[in-house]
Amino acid sequence: MTDTTRSSAAHPGGDPGANPEVAALNDAGIGADAQTQARLAAVMFAARYHGVEMDLEALRLRPDEPAPSPPVLVEWLREAGLWVRGVPMNFRQLMKIDDPAPVVLLLDDGGAALVVGRDRDREVLFMRDPRASSGEPAIAVDELRLKQVWSGGALLIRAKRGGAEGEPVFNLGLLARLVWSDKRILRDIAISSITITVLSLVPIFAVMSVIGTVLQYRGTATLNLVIILMIVAVAFEMILSWGRKLMEVILAAKLDSRLNLMIFDRLLALPIEFFERQQAGELAYKVAQVNQVREFLTGKLMNTFIDMFMLTILLPLLFYMNATLAWTVLIAAGLIAAIIAAFLRPLSVMTGRMIAAESGKGSVLVESIYGIRTVKALALEPARAADWDRRVAEVADLHVQAGRLANWPATLAMPLQRYCGYGAITLGAYIALHTNNPVDAGSITGFMLLGGRVAGPLVSLAGLMEDVQKAQAAIGQVASVLNRPNEKHALTHGLRPRFEGAIEFDDVTFRYEGSKAPALEKMSFKIPAGTMLGLVGRSGSGKSTITRLLQGINRDYQGAIRIDGNDMREINLRHIRKNFGMVLQDNFLFRGTVRDNIIAGRPGLSFEDAVRAARLAGAEEFIERLPNGYDTFIQEGSPNLSGGQKQRLAIARALISDPKVLIMDEATSALDPESEALVNANILRIAKGRTMVIVSHRLSSLLDCDLIMVLDRGRTVDIGTHHELVERCAIYRHLWFQQNRHLAPEGFNNAASAPALTQGH
Ligand SMILES: Nc1ncnc2c1ncn2[C@@H]1O[C@H](COP(=O)(O)OP(=O)(O)OP(=O)(O)O)[C@@H](O)[C@H]1O
Ligand SMILES: [Mg+2]
Repeated sequence: MTDTTRSSAAHPGGDPGANPEVAALNDAGIGADAQTQARLAAVMFAARYHGVEMDLEALRLRPDEPAPSPPVLVEWLREAGLWVRGVPMNFRQLMKIDDPAPVVLLLDDGGAALVVGRDRDREVLFMRDPRASSGEPAIAVDELRLKQVWSGGALLIRAKRGGAEGEPVFNLGLLARLVWSDKRILRDIAISSITITVLSLVPIFAVMSVIGTVLQYRGTATLNLVIILMIVAVAFEMILSWGRKLMEVILAAKLDSRLNLMIFDRLLALPIEFFERQQAGELAYKVAQVNQVREFLTGKLMNTFIDMFMLTILLPLLFYMNATLAWTVLIAAGLIAAIIAAFLRPLSVMTGRMIAAESGKGSVLVESIYGIRTVKALALEPARAADWDRRVAEVADLHVQAGRLANWPATLAMPLQRYCGYGAITLGAYIALHTNNPVDAGSITGFMLLGGRVAGPLVSLAGLMEDVQKAQAAIGQVASVLNRPNEKHALTHGLRPRFEGAIEFDDVTFRYEGSKAPALEKMSFKIPAGTMLGLVGRSGSGKSTITRLLQGINRDYQGAIRIDGNDMREINLRHIRKNFGMVLQDNFLFRGTVRDNIIAGRPGLSFEDAVRAARLAGAEEFIERLPNGYDTFIQEGSPNLSGGQKQRLAIARALISDPKVLIMDEATSALDPESEALVNANILRIAKGRTMVIVSHRLSSLLDCDLIMVLDRGRTVDIGTHHELVERCAIYRHLWFQQNRHLAPEGFNNAASAPALTQGH
């Protein structure tokens, strides 16, 4: 009897009509018709049960569908980080579910209902209308009644296994589980491998019997039989090998896709600050190491298992034929394994050095390509080339060293390997001649043909240890990236309030990882919604840090940041970033048309929105003069746009979603006075109806601000209007008169009026 939601649903005296899902849908203006609203509200209710607030903006409703179809809902839920499965079910199955989580039933009329409990004695389900007010009790429904409105469509929703709270750690176990999830293919590969092994032994036994029997007794009939047997065995082996290879390829491809999807997903969930600290080349190299691991898992490891199986068949056979010879072969193979094992450690050290050298080399390449403008502008090609030369030489040198080292075990093991192949028969012949222990010709040939097959697997078993180490090193590299704490939880959980834009910093102290001095120290200020706040202060005073904290880029600060009174840590991170616009000094434009860049792939935005945003940003004027207007293609690095044009496009891109908070960090600093004037002329219009945080070195562009905050070394020095600050804040007055000398009072003196600025940092 599992029924947790029923009791809460049965509360008497709930506020009628107070259904949070329906309220949210009405707010967003989605789902005018009852069915659509019921489906969406049901999904939102079920998601909230698992602590996930659905984001209506992420919903991709198709215009041609009367009510949201199961695939649309599934995609929406998956994007929010939930585990979901759309399955056909029946009443019995619904009764059997033990999980108290609500199940979404997709009704035949396009609406939906929620199963919130069950009474197994009375054989009824407790159901809830997703649009009913939360105070309404659940309704008991039996099979017959349900059948009239529902023919089996259901959505099972769960918090992702481990994913919501903490994702699975990336390690060998996780990879093994990934491989193992294809049990059927694995089983087929194993069966075919075993069969192939057995079949490949048939010709050998055939040869043995040919030599032993046929020659001695001139048995032509036996020979013919043997030949037919061999042909059949070879034919089967051929077909099976072909099939096995195909299955291996499929398995590898499946695993590759799964790994790649997982890696990209986790990579993008890492916080920006992580990418800022890592070199792109090194990062790419580390992540690419996963291919090595995959190859190991589906190649070497599997083959070794197959070899091991072969051994279990062959060894008893050899001992049966001749125990003495079998022992010598076994000892030789053991010696080979010992030799390889002895070289494992030095080889793995070498591998580690090689990986480091390779990734260093990769960084130089990537860095040179990224920084090619600077490289060319400063004529740094020779220096970069010299660096590259050095790295290449280092890698080459290590390759030779590693090759030399790896050569040793192979060379030392060779005589032993040869012994297993044909040395054993010489010994066999010797034994036959010099003792009265008869060894028949068939056994001796058998040893010649099979001895090598025993040595092979043993040698590869020893080699496997080396590969395991290599794979572990590779996993370590990937894990060092993927096992970092990421933002996934914050991106999928938390409140999604409607922002007004009031911002409050309450005793916020923040320190960048690895630096001693805090970038912000006990910072407190509070601005009401709709304020235009200017931030000034000398370089390194913490202006950008404030904007980064507001974007949730760095999250491990002390104190509290509140948006409209809600602690920022409790608000969904994606929701914050979607609703906060950000324009930086240097903005990245994607390859694509001007229109694509303004819309930037956000759903539900039209060309009209793009035009409106461009007009507000003061970009319309130049876009219309471009050869193809809004359809002009922007190349990588946007060489066909000037700095001012790029900047205005970036502002348009930020404005299109009508953000409640717009942050501009030195957004106009790189502009020529004319472009800057253009943007500034629009700034009051841009600021209408939203909170603005503007960082600027040019105080003249902050004159329109309602409030200006002066920072110094991570502390708030003063906050007030321009006039107040000129009056009472020494640092501000100094900056202002420095930039506007013609306004400076008689005897204005740098050093005297702003002592704080002349101190070293
Ligand atoms: N990613 C980072 N990692 C480590 N320290 C950082 C990082 N970014 C900034 N800092 C440090 O934090 C302090 C504040 O930097 P911040 O970027 O906020 O200054 P700013 O006021 O924006 O300066 P500017 O006017 O030059 O842009 C500086 O001392 C800086 O060295
Ligand atoms: Mg800055």
